[in-house]
Amino acid sequence: MTSTETTILRALIEKENGFVSGSILARSLDMSRVAVWQHMEKMRRHGFEFEAVRARGYRLTKRPDTVYPDLIHAYLAARKLNYDLLYASTIDSTNDEAARQLAGGREAPFAVVSSYQTKGRGRFGRVWHSEANGNLYISFAFRPKIEPARMQTFTLWMGINICELIANFTRTTPGLKWPNDILFDGRKAGGMLTEARMDSDQIRDLVFGLGLNLNSPADSWPAALNKRAISLAEHTNTPLDINKFTAALIGRVLDAYDQFISGDYRKTFADRWHEFDILRGKAIKLLHGTETIAGTASGIDDEGSLIVKTATGRTERFRAGEVTIEKK
Ligand code: BTN
Repeated sequence: MTSTETTILRALIEKENGFVSGSILARSLDMSRVAVWQHMEKMRRHGFEFEAVRARGYRLTKRPDTVYPDLIHAYLAARKLNYDLLYASTIDSTNDEAARQLAGGREAPFAVVSSYQTKGRGRFGRVWHSEANGNLYISFAFRPKIEPARMQTFTLWMGINICELIANFTRTTPGLKWPNDILFDGRKAGGMLTEARMDSDQIRDLVFGLGLNLNSPADSWPAALNKRAISLAEHTNTPLDINKFTAALIGRVLDAYDQFISGDYRKTFADRWHEFDILRGKAIKLLHGTETIAGTASGIDDEGSLIVKTATGRTERFRAGEVTIEKK
């Protein structure tokens, strides 16, 4: 059900910089003008600013720089999407919360978003630095009922979609480092973590987590990450509207998921990956289990495997592993 605040915010957003009459808002919400004003006061305490002019109404003049679910719903209102959004200002890990909610029977799809993770996780059990610094920590939960073999392309497909969205928003092109890193200028701007639970021969629960450095200032990283991490705001010199971006992300990920399930993505998948691929043609080392393979990265195939031309002249394909780019 649409909340009162979502309805108010939707009306204000639709008017862009124009005024919305308080009495029209009150009538459409079937409440008094005082009650509308009380909702505006509540939103003011969360970082919104409204200009109120007698006989003209309200105008939205400032939006919060932290996640505000009602504003996300307002941005998404024009799309008839079937999703649920859970928000917690602090959480251990949005991936863990999504898994707990799935295990507890919550209907999918849904997303879990937080401003601060106390146990943010990356691949190989690494820590994902998750301060409340304007960055985004979000997980999407699905119940796909597909064969496990199909999962190999999932994170890559999501990565393509997220990079296309970032490119639209920032007018700059991020890079993808197989299989799950989003980069600007060789520095990490985002990471994806896909986790699944299986039932005999089917994927039962699927959690797709994204940590995206949206708005953290350059000097906010701990020393160890300083040269390795970057935010979109730092790269473009412009802060992003986290709620507008999150709304667009939710729409994009849900669409991408539907295309993934229907198989529609297959025809364009490898070509679209190559548009963002930062490894192609580079000398790399791939850590694969206990083995290290040196060679030249040569794109991905339709299955999402990394193609490597090894020093011995052989072409090999890898389904998993961790890549480092060799310094010249
Ligand atoms: C990686 O690059 O190793 C993947 C990082 C994934 C981090 C995100 S933040 C939201 C979600 N919750 C987590 O605990 N991890 C993912």
